[in-house]
Amino acid sequence: MINDKAETEKEPYSDKENGQDDGNVITMPAYAKVNVSLVVFGKRADGFHELHTIMAPIGLCDQLTVRKNNGKGIFLRCFGGDAPDGPENLVFRAVELLANYVGKELAVDIELEKRIPSGAGLGGASSDAAICLLAVNRLMNLGLTLIDLAELAGELGSDVPFFLNNSVALCKGRGEIVESLPLKMSRHIMLVLSGLHVATPLIYKNYQYDEEKTTKQMESVDICLGQGDLDKLISLGINSLTEVTMSLFAPLRNLRDKLEQLGIGPVFMSGSGSTLFVTSEDIDQLKRWSKLIVEKKLAETCITEIASQR
Ligand code: C5P
Repeated sequence: MINDKAETEKEPYSDKENGQDDGNVITMPAYAKVNVSLVVFGKRADGFHELHTIMAPIGLCDQLTVRKNNGKGIFLRCFGGDAPDGPENLVFRAVELLANYVGKELAVDIELEKRIPSGAGLGGASSDAAICLLAVNRLMNLGLTLIDLAELAGELGSDVPFFLNNSVALCKGRGEIVESLPLKMSRHIMLVLSGLHVATPLIYKNYQYDEEKTTKQMESVDICLGQGDLDKLISLGINSLTEVTMSLFAPLRNLRDKLEQLGIGPVFMSGSGSTLFVTSEDIDQLKRWSKLIVEKKLAETCITEIASQR
């Protein structure tokens, strides 16, 4: 569900830079996200957890190309990662769901160039699926609105609707209630890619709700939101899942400790992990830290912009 009416009416990816098509083929970037803040409440009756999270798109992206294939069916090929080529890929399921919704066969070849690591808390698979919905809708002239697409996106996964808009947003419910925030950020971000694969369900399964802590976190989030200051919010490192991920993944904890021993930080985690990140207004500082991390062979890094695609 998308709450912001204005956002439902404009096509966020309609400009030439963000999507190119010649009537038979369309190519679009699928941006990753980081959680500027993530507060998790208790478990709901449906097994999901109630969330209050602010997510921001970052410059790191996958690339999705969709081509009409004259009735041959759905074909998916992934490059550059370990993403599956079949129906277990959310992109494949996105086309099937669309086909079911419009009641006709959608015959497309899809190429997915993976750059966003999986199981990394960056939303790569969800972003790919959201962009696939947008791309197929546009390529096949299905005429679905963003509201229709957001409904389908919510069926694919809790954070898929967020990726339809390519803008900073507050996401509530299980993550599918998306309210765009007209806020910019001026910090640069360095992702520290641990290479670990963290399964989100495992983290939620082990999460223990702490009412007092959560209330304090929400007070801080509300203050920053009231001031419209996401740069300040991200510098607080509010993420309810950090503790549980760190307790289950010792190598990630060790990596964070090593970074902090080198004077790098503060170090935060995106989503349920495994990506760690550091933000700064000084990009040269991040470059120096990145060099140090690579020299010491601790992890791969990626310095990119945050919430500034528009
Ligand atoms: O919605 P999605 O399929 O991305 O969620 C993956 C898993 O993460 C869920 O099966 C659930 O275990 C957990 N989850 C949750 N609460 C949420 C979102 C996800 O418990 N709000």
